Amino acid sequence: MILKKHKASITGVHGYVPDYILTNKELETLVDTSDEWIVTRTGIKERRILKGDMKGTSILGVECVKGLLEKTNTDPKEIDLIICATVTPDMLFPSTSNLIADKIGATNSYGFDISAACSGFIYALATGSQFIEAGTHNKVIVIGADKMSSIIDYEERKNCVLFGDGGGAVLLEPSEDETGIQDYLLKSDGSGGDMLCLKAGGSLRPASTETIKNKEHYIYQEGSSVFKFAVTNMADISEEIMNKNKLKSDDISYLVPHQANKRIIDATAKRMGVGPEKVLLNIEKYGNTTAGTIPLCLWDFENKFKKGDNLILAAFGGGFTWGSLYLKWSYNN
Ligand code: ACO
Repeated sequence: MILKKHKASITGVHGYVPDYILTNKELETLVDTSDEWIVTRTGIKERRILKGDMKGTSILGVECVKGLLEKTNTDPKEIDLIICATVTPDMLFPSTSNLIADKIGATNSYGFDISAACSGFIYALATGSQFIEAGTHNKVIVIGADKMSSIIDYEERKNCVLFGDGGGAVLLEPSEDETGIQDYLLKSDGSGGDMLCLKAGGSLRPASTETIKNKEHYIYQEGSSVFKFAVTNMADISEEIMNKNKLKSDDISYLVPHQANKRIIDATAKRMGVGPEKVLLNIEKYGNTTAGTIPLCLWDFENKFKKGDNLILAAFGGGFTWGSLYLKWSYNN
């Protein structure tokens, strides 16, 4: 018997950011920086921070999924699979997806995490879509969430201004029409791994007094080098997916870019030939939430989308990893 092939549709999206707002003004009191520098170099005005002890990324994921289940009227027991993209898992193992599944009562699902830094959500969405398209899974939840404040040194100005905590989740189901995920391109280049990484805490350099003294449990980034790779690769891969699918600028309804730096986003939009009215931005409110930025953007702008709208998602991040995904939005609000 030949199974009827279905595309994977996003049938709901929900996001979550913690209440605490860390403004550029407050950062001025912590490190030698200024609101003017941060806004002109990055576009960020404030970011959210998950305060309190014993609160990991799973808390962000749980809040996203609870809202998603309520909104889509889905019983947690109906969920087949949960994929969580994150570089700040609660622990190295068990996976954060398993912790989330337990906390939301998804007792019939299994799950795993994906580590692809800022491209994590696109990687996870592409992965989740395979299970739907294969016809073996009916309800897949894809989460992108990061508690970046857990790996940030708030005494060092280069990185602390860039990142925040937050996440979002989508429900994937078989499409009833031709809407849904149409295509994606995923790439990686491990030779760039050293330029943006967490040096210690893994099997190579387990935690020790030395790694703590050297501050190796905080994010390390060669900002201007990463910037150059990000500008080129995010623009290239966005143009490539348009060409591959014979999409002209006018065919694009919205660009949903990873929110690392407004200048990287502007360069991508320029290469695609799309005007600012089509570029979804919320970097000023949340900063870079790593795997959280794209689902948070889908959530913030959900009311704009109409069924059939062509969306291009694009990201670049640590690894290096990068990718783009073309989807036709599947519902009206
Ligand atoms: N406040 C004031 N000055 C600062 C700050 C700050 N917060 N941070 C750096 N500076 C200074 C630097 O020390 C430097 O001073 P110097 O010339 O005296 O040495 C000067 O500003 C310029 O520094 P650059 O690093 O050249 O600044 P740049 O214009 O490149 O902006 C930034 C830095 C924002 C980090 C940019 O390089 C960037 O966006 N990089 C890419 C980030 C990214 O996309 N990462 C991938 C995703 S993240 C992930 O995957 C987890």
